Amino acid sequence: MIKIHKFSVAPMVDKTDRHFRYFLRAFSKKSLFYTEMITAKSIIHGDKNKILDFDPIEKPLALQLAGDNVEEMVEAVKIAENWDYDEINLNIGCPSDRISGNNMGAVLMAYPFLVRDMVIEVKKITKKPVTVKHRIGIDGTGILDETFENKILDSYEYLKEFVSIIDEGNPDRLTIHGRIAILKGLSPKENREIPPLNYDFVYKVKKDFSHLNIEINGGIKTKEDIDTHLKNVDSVMIGREIYDNPYFLNIADSYYDICNAPTSREEAIENILDYVDSYEKNGFNSNSIIRHLLGLYHGQKNSKLWKNSLNIQNIKKLGGKKTLMEAIKLMKHN
Ligand SMILES: Cc1cc2nc3c(=O)[nH]c(=O)nc-3n(C[C@H](O)[C@H](O)[C@H](O)COP(=O)(O)O)c2cc1C
Repeated sequence: MIKIHKFSVAPMVDKTDRHFRYFLRAFSKKSLFYTEMITAKSIIHGDKNKILDFDPIEKPLALQLAGDNVEEMVEAVKIAENWDYDEINLNIGCPSDRISGNNMGAVLMAYPFLVRDMVIEVKKITKKPVTVKHRIGIDGTGILDETFENKILDSYEYLKEFVSIIDEGNPDRLTIHGRIAILKGLSPKENREIPPLNYDFVYKVKKDFSHLNIEINGGIKTKEDIDTHLKNVDSVMIGREIYDNPYFLNIADSYYDICNAPTSREEAIENILDYVDSYEKNGFNSNSIIRHLLGLYHGQKNSKLWKNSLNIQNIKKLGGKKTLMEAIKLMKHN
């Protein structure tokens, strides 16, 4: 059985990398983080350490995988078993051309038996929870072939059928992004904005499959949103709002009945100074870390000042640690 879980930070390519996850952990000990989507092929054929290494501070951490066939998913998970991830998550929601065109991500909503078999076979080789992240449906026009009489799979009946088939694989959680993916004609960014949100479908899934652990995702921005959703489903996943405003994550642990004082912005920076320093000492450019800290003062009167002080010239001249220390000093005096 999966541990009680209430809150997660969504996987986001180019955003939830290990640096951002390290930084974010200052605000929440309990919420689940995800890797960016990683293809099974890249794990099998690529630089495994580079792709799979992480710092234990990032835990609990789920590995998110995309793949088009059971064998490669299994092989990738076998490799990943050498790393201490807390969960394996299958990406059945990515709408990008590159991913859908290769029969991965959201297009697999049209192939529920394949997704079910991925869950079944992956569960045979790991004791970790195996979860699925998907949409409420897809418009596969221009992508699905002629064997599909109906290429628009956006009805609740279809979602119910999809979930009932996945359910046969005994998934430990379904995270459902409450909008469909339009597989041709929209960019991934547009696919996170244009198809309307329909939380009711997600709530209905929880009602119809009350034994399943259901997480809701998409457009969640406030504590009020979270509280409303938690009356209807088991947990919430938030992506962009946390990236743009990481301080917001301070509220997450309260959903685990932990009443710590919120971590201040200054403490979060202090936490990461040595990490930044040792990254630089290993010859890397700390802008790869600092770029994720720009949203820290989101909504505060000095947020522009913060962003401006973390510019590349300062990082080059002073180094990352000093740039951050100077920026924090500046924020205190303004
Ligand atoms: C830049 C970016 C990259 C994303 N990459 C992934 C990904 O790798 N895997 C995935 O399942 N979803 C990915 N997503 C979708 C998010 O996980 C999430 O489902 C979506 O942003 C909706 O949640 P939100 O409204 O809270 O941001 C990405 C979203 C963004 C903004």
